[in-house]
Amino acid sequence: MPDIIKVTNLVKRFNGFTAVDGISFSMPKGNFYGLLGPNGAGKTTTIRMLYGFSPPTEGELRIFGMDIATEWRKIKTKMGICHQENTLDPDLTVEQNLHIYAGYFAVPGKKARERTDELLAFFALDHRRHAKVRELSGGMARRLILARALINQPDLLILDEPTTGLDPQSRHQVWEKLEELKKTGLSVLITTHYMEEAERLCDRLVIIDHGRILVEGDPKTLKCEHAGDRIVEIVGPDPELRSFVSERRIENDDLGTRMLLYLRDGNEVEDTIRERFCMDRCVYRGSTLEDVFLRLTGRELRE
Ligand SMILES: Nc1ncnc2c1ncn2[C@@H]1O[C@H](COP(=O)(O)OP(=O)(O)O)[C@@H](O)[C@H]1O
Ligand SMILES: [Mg+2]
Repeated sequence: MPDIIKVTNLVKRFNGFTAVDGISFSMPKGNFYGLLGPNGAGKTTTIRMLYGFSPPTEGELRIFGMDIATEWRKIKTKMGICHQENTLDPDLTVEQNLHIYAGYFAVPGKKARERTDELLAFFALDHRRHAKVRELSGGMARRLILARALINQPDLLILDEPTTGLDPQSRHQVWEKLEELKKTGLSVLITTHYMEEAERLCDRLVIIDHGRILVEGDPKTLKCEHAGDRIVEIVGPDPELRSFVSERRIENDDLGTRMLLYLRDGNEVEDTIRERFCMDRCVYRGSTLEDVFLRLTGRELRE
C-alpha cells in the first residue's frame, strides 16, 4: 500500500530565505503524524505546499500515491484542511458555513444536509446551528472548522495547530473528537506546539527546526533515545552534585538553578543520587516529549 503522504527533499525559498530546507518523510495510511517545531520552523510552509497553496521550490510531494504537481485536482477531493488561522465566514451561520463548503466539493444537496447534521452532532454544535460564526466561542469555532474540513469525507485530514489558543476544556474536547476520528482509520497530519497533544495523538512524528528534520520516530522511542527512561530534576544543584554527575558521566542538562539528570533503566547510580542529593529539592518523573523537544531545539526564546 502506498504511503498517504510521501515528501522527498522538499525545499521552499522566499527571495533567498530558505524556510524549508530539504525535508523528507513518509506517512503511512491510518497514522496520526505530527509535525512539531518551534515558531518559524517551517511547519505551515510545508503544509501550504502539501495543500497546493504554494508550489515547492524543489522536491517531490506525493499524496495517495499521486504527484501533486500533476494530479492536484484528484487529490484535493479526498483531502480536508484546518488552517492555523480562523477562515470561517463570520457573517454566515454555523450551518451555512458547512453547506457552502459542501458546495465547493460538489456534494449533492441531500447528502450535504445529512453530512451537516452528522458533523454538527459529532462536534456538539447542533444547538448552535443557526448562530452566526461571530457569536461562537473560540472552542466552538475551532470545532466548526474541524467539521467543515470533514464535509467531503476526506481520507486525509491536515490540521495546522488545531488547539492553539483554546482553553484547557476546549482543547481536551477537541482531543477527544480527534481520538474518535482516529478510530475510524482517518489519516491525519497535525502540527502542534503542545507536546501533550503530540504525545496523546501521534503515532509517529518529526521534529523540525530551521526547515530541517532533527528526528523522526514514534513518541516512545524518541523519549527513550533523547531523554532517558526517567528524569530527576534537582533544584539548586551544588558543586558536589555537579562533580558526581560529571565523574559518573550521567547525561544531564545544567540550567544553573536546576539540573536535569536523564537516567536509563539499569543505571545503578539512581539509588546513590536519591540518598546523597535528594532531600526536599528533587522531582522524579518520566521523560516527556517536551523534554525531547527542548533538548533538540534548545531553550532560548524564538520571538
Ligand atoms: N510568504 C512568505 N514570505 C517570506 N517568508 C515567509 C513566508 N512564509 C513564511 N515565511 C518565513 O518562513 C519561516 C517559516 O514559517 P512558517 O512555516 O510559518 O513556520 P511555523 O509554521 O513552523 O511557525 C519563517 O521564518 C517565516 O517568517
Ligand atoms: Mg505555523
